[in-house]
Amino acid sequence: MNNIKACIFDLDGVIVDTAVYHYKAWKRLANSLGFDFTEHQNEQLKGVSRVRSLELILGWGGVTKTAEEQEVLATQKNTWYMEMVNQMKPDEILPGAKEFVEVCRKAGIKIALGSASKNSMTILNKIGITNLFDAVIDGNKVSKAKPDPEVFLEGAKALSVAPEECVVFEDAIAGVEAAKAGGMKVVGIGQPGVLDADLVISGLDKMTLDKLFKL
Ligand code: BG6
Ligand code: MG
Repeated sequence: MNNIKACIFDLDGVIVDTAVYHYKAWKRLANSLGFDFTEHQNEQLKGVSRVRSLELILGWGGVTKTAEEQEVLATQKNTWYMEMVNQMKPDEILPGAKEFVEVCRKAGIKIALGSASKNSMTILNKIGITNLFDAVIDGNKVSKAKPDPEVFLEGAKALSVAPEECVVFEDAIAGVEAAKAGGMKVVGIGQPGVLDADLVISGLDKMTLDKLFKL
């Protein structure tokens, strides 16, 4: 018997491949400031808030900016990012993501989004799956960024389930840590060597209810 009553999904890199758009926009910003950063460094930006990501990138480039300048840079990155997001269509949902959410719903499992992104609702609306979520907790609703568990604990609360009854789906190191810190089970989307999760799969097309209940 299992006691799983809810699944909480990260958005970027789990439901949609916006992680690539974030990377492109940050890279463009870094390049405009005269430096670059590696794929490995980019891994550390996944799940991390916009403001904190900028701080990390400026640190890697050895560049110092005032708070006002940082705000301008973060806004510029978001403008470039949203140019790509605004082109998104429902066919950009990652393979198996919509199907797995629907299978869960049919099995009576509640569904929440738990994302650091302040653009979550725009993206869900663009890809046409907003109505599949019983609760959406995004970067506008939390004050503590992953690896703090706040976003997932708020998701559990919104669904009226206990943390130990939730399974989180995450592609970010910080997100996997956040789920664990919240006392939840976690499925990593990505590479086993990178993510220290209860189960690691390459994408939601590899997920089944059977695997969920065996966690
Ligand atoms: C997370 C992404 O989901 O959201 C991060 O993994 C991103 O890369 C963060 O920085 C904040 O997103 P946004 O859309 O509010 O800038
Ligand atoms: Mg993510």
